[in-house]
Parts: sequence; structure tokens; C-alpha cells
Amino acid sequence: MNVWRTKSIEQSIADTEEPEHRLRKRLGPVDLTVFGVGVIIGTGIFVLTGKAAGVQAGPAVALSFVFAGIACALAALCYAEFASTVPVAGSAYTFSYASLGEIIAWIIGWDLILELALGASTVAVGWSTYFADLMKSAGVTIPAWAYGGGHNLVAAVIIAILTLVLCLGIKLSSRVNITMVVIKVGIVLFVIIAGLFYVKASNYSPFIPPAGSTGAGGATSTPSLLQDLGFAPGSFGVSGIFTAAALVFFAFIGFDIVATAAEETKRPQRDVPIGILGSLAVCTALYVAVSLVVTGMVKYNELSVDAPLAEAFRSVGRPGFATIISIGAILGLTTVMMILMLGQSRVFFAMSRDRLLPRQFSKVNPRFGTPIRTTLITGAVVALLSVFIPLSELAELVNIGTLFAFILVAIGVLVLRRKRPDLRRAFRTPGVPVVPVLAVLASFYLMLNLPALTWLRFGIWMLIGLVVYFAYGVRKSRLVTDPNYSTDRS
Ligand code: ALA
Repeated sequence: MNVWRTKSIEQSIADTEEPEHRLRKRLGPVDLTVFGVGVIIGTGIFVLTGKAAGVQAGPAVALSFVFAGIACALAALCYAEFASTVPVAGSAYTFSYASLGEIIAWIIGWDLILELALGASTVAVGWSTYFADLMKSAGVTIPAWAYGGGHNLVAAVIIAILTLVLCLGIKLSSRVNITMVVIKVGIVLFVIIAGLFYVKASNYSPFIPPAGSTGAGGATSTPSLLQDLGFAPGSFGVSGIFTAAALVFFAFIGFDIVATAAEETKRPQRDVPIGILGSLAVCTALYVAVSLVVTGMVKYNELSVDAPLAEAFRSVGRPGFATIISIGAILGLTTVMMILMLGQSRVFFAMSRDRLLPRQFSKVNPRFGTPIRTTLITGAVVALLSVFIPLSELAELVNIGTLFAFILVAIGVLVLRRKRPDLRRAFRTPGVPVVPVLAVLASFYLMLNLPALTWLRFGIWMLIGLVVYFAYGVRKSRLVTDPNYSTDRS
């Protein structure tokens, strides 16, 4: 069937899908931008800044945020073109399904599990740490059986609660998000403005610590693949800026999820590009400001690794401010988890609609208008991962998976321009082919700045994905079972 040439792709989806397999259209541009900011600001700025400044880049971590932000902006311009051309559920998965074919789409969808489910688990672990810390300062100690090495039930409980909220409906989730996003952005602005009064110029010297120097107590970071291969010296120095960029890249993850909600927006052609680029611009500005303020308040190698923003205020004699920031961080991380999980359930939904996953995954509950089954499964997977796997090992894997998805999306823009130049694109990536090519190069360079072990884990995960595809998807695919269905859509 000719989906591309019909008047509206959404109408075509409506024609080919039974009502219980369609999502409701309820979101506008403000909801989307809130979604974006809600998921972007989180563990990256609240937690990872400490490590990135302390052992990788020093005060120059602000430049790491700029580089990571530029890489994301390039990818965002590609995402926006895809999202405005193919306004259906599924993010990079759906876009690549339409442009690069089923197997590439499966690879990217499988890869997105790293970004979304594993990302939510990462943030849940971070959340539980903040929560335990806040409880401790209130005089309450969480028992060791609920919160300790290797068994983090606190993380599982918060995920269970959020899963229920998501099942009740996207509008409710969106309202909860707006409140939390306002608080979170308020806290970030508070850090910037209040922190300015404690900045000491001497803390910026050296702005880029010399290559080979160490952090507090001789601490160093795991070498990146580039360092292992001898192409870059150890941490700090100019190359440290890029090692840190590969880590704080986590702080930007999520802008692409705005595209995931495209099927639920009223006017995706206009609203999705606004939502993606708008939320990315706001966050980049905030990150640069926060990192400059915090490294100005505290010598980089004395920045706490766990709660750097709160610790910075504690160290200048403002423990009350620190508590306020911790509460804000807890709320902030909550929205991040929620939207990552929302994104994951929508990707599973789209994969199921194409029958690469069992059909039952894409049933929308008639009462709540949400894919309850998919949401529950996502919640269970995310909770399980967060109970058993430590935060640091999760974060780098999330980054490599997301960067790989960016590369595929940027290539997808080029392929689709060549294959289907006639397509109506509500938003066109400027400077093609330069921008997509730069997006690929910047993302790949960041991947090279991640540790070798992360590459190995990533490779194993992708191999498992291929096995699953050839054992299940390839036989059950709707392309095989439904003569009217096509990836090419022409
Ligand atoms: N960007 C999100 C965060 O920093 C995933 O938590």
C-alpha cells in the first residue's frame, strides 16, 4: 500500500490499524518541549558533572558540554527531518523502518533499548542514591535489605510507581511532568544564580589541567578506546575535554524522545522540530552555565562525585541550599525516568505493530488510551535492571547505544533524500549532506572516547539482537504475513 503518497501518513496508519492499535492525539508544542526538557536535564548535570570535571576535564568540562551539545544539535537536525516526514510512533526505529528497511530498523530498535530502558535504569539507580542521602539527612536509614550493593529495591519501587502513572494516560503524565520540570529548571537556575556569588577566579586556574595529571587522591578515569589505542594521552589536557564529553553526553540524552511522541501530537509537522530543537537549546545553555558556576565555586578535583551540585553549596557553608538542590534533583530524575520509560514503551509498541515483537504488545487500552501491556513490560524490565546493575556500568553503555542510533539516523536522512527526494518534508535538515555527515563524525568521535569494555558490551548486545531477529522477527514480520504491508511504502 502506498503510505507515502497518501494525503496523510497518520490517516494511512489509521486505515491500516484497528482502533485499539492507535494512540490518542493529545499533545501540543508546549507538552513536547516540556517532555524534552523533562527528560534531558537529569543525572548528566546533577551527577556526572562531578566525575567529568574531577578526573577528566577540570573546569573545561563546560567545553565538554558544548562539544556534546553540538554533536546532539547536528543529530537533532536530522531527527527533526525524520520526525516531520514520518509522524508515527517509534522514534529512530520507525524512521529507519521507513528509510533503511526492516533489518536496520530492528537493529536500531534493539539499540534504542540501551538508550531508553537501560537509561531509565541508570537514572533510577542515581535517584535511589539521592533518595537514600536525603533520608539520611532526615535521620532515617534505609534498611540494608532494601538498599545495598547488588540489590537496589528502592529503585524498583520508584519505577513501579511511575509505571502505574504512565498506564493511567499520557495527559496525566504530561501534567505531572510540567510541575516537576518547572521545579527542576527552577533548581538549576537557583544553582546558577546563587552559585555566582561564591565563584572564585582562582578555581579556574588551570582551566584545562595538564595531560597526565590526576584527580583528588590520585584518582583517574577508565581509559577511552582512543587512549588504549595510543591516540590520546590520559585524562585532562585537551583530549580530556572529549573524554568528558563522551560521558556528559548522557546529559543530553532524551531530546530525540520528543520524536517518539510524534504520533500523539496534534500537529507533528510543526511541533516536533520545535520541541526537539527548543529543548536542546535551553538545556545546552543551562549546562554550560551550571558547570562554569560549580567549577568556579569548588576546585575541580574537590568536586563530589555523587552529588556535585549539592556538595558545592555545602562546601561553601550553605547546607540548606544543598538540601533544596537534593530535593530538586530527586524530582528532576523522576521525570527523566518517566519519559525514558514512555519512550521505550512506544518503541516496543511500534516494533510490535510491525510484528517484530508479539502483536499483543501494541494493544492500546480503550479506557486509558495507552498501551498498558507494553508499559507494564517496560516497567518490569527497567526495574529488574536497576535492582542488580550498578550505575557506572550502565551509563557508558547507554551513551554508546544512543550515539550509534544518532549515526544511523543521520545516514537515514541521506538515504531518504536520495531514495525519495519527492517526499514532503515539513522540516528539512539544512546543509545536507554536510550536516548529516558531521553528525555521523561527531557521534563516532564521541563513541571512540568511551572505554574499550563499553565497546565490547555494546557489540555483544547487538549480536544478541541479531539472533533474536533471525529466530523470531524475520518469520513473524508483518512484511511476511501481510501482503499490503511494506517498509518501502511506495
Ligand atoms: N539526559 C538524561 C539525564 O541526564 C538522561 O539524566
